[in-house]
Amino acid sequence: QTAPAPVIVAIDGPSGTGKSSTSKAVAAELGLRYLDTGAQYRAITWWMLSNGIDVADPTAVAAAAGKPVIVSGTDPARPTITVDGADAAGPIRTQEVTAAVSAVSAVAEVRGRITELQRSIAAGTAEGTDPADVAAPSRGIVVEGRDIGTTVLPDADLKVFLTASPEARAARRSGELRGKDSADLATTRAALLKRDAADSGRKASPLKKADDAVEVDTTELTLEQVVECVVTLVREQQPAG
Ligand code: DC
Repeated sequence: QTAPAPVIVAIDGPSGTGKSSTSKAVAAELGLRYLDTGAQYRAITWWMLSNGIDVADPTAVAAAAGKPVIVSGTDPARPTITVDGADAAGPIRTQEVTAAVSAVSAVAEVRGRITELQRSIAAGTAEGTDPADVAAPSRGIVVEGRDIGTTVLPDADLKVFLTASPEARAARRSGELRGKDSADLATTRAALLKRDAADSGRKASPLKKADDAVEVDTTELTLEQVVECVVTLVREQQPAG
């Protein structure tokens, strides 16, 4: 008897919907690999900023898009990302990178390059992945992002689109639901809505729910509830065997 085909799960949605926490927990529970595609866009953005590329100049960004070597480690318990061999996990979370990432990820050459890496990683081939991940047997992968179900992996076995109210998303992004002063929350909310508008409004592969995606509104749900919901959806896709 042959092994079942690897399962591919696409989880898309705007920031602050719990995509990363959900995707990692689902992958860990089901023994799948995990890919954070936002981290890849952040990594290429960090490289552009570090190498003096003007991120406001799409021509300059396009010309440099193929230069950095970006490698993702896909263990959900310990996801990693390196750029030209350097650990990028810390630097890609800075405000500077967050502010520039929408502009860089709107450039078609950047999307083409990163999409290639994502497809290679999902297919279990070497490019873009930690060699240890390729060697390890895999039952499939959870890929989280903005355009995974629509563009990167349109044949995914399951597509989930996570949403939540702007208030809930801003509160989660601020890292706490209570005790945050309202000005700070308002600033977070404004920055988040601005990035969503840029990600949804761009020409190249915008943030959009795939027609065949299951939409899950996480506003009133705990992380555990969202994870349970997605795990159930995956199991329904994969007859026990
Ligand atoms: O999920 P995140 O906030 O780390 O993503 C950072 C940015 O990367 C986000 O503002 C848009 C971009 N992105 C994208 O364009 N396509 C993806 N599949 C994932 C992220």
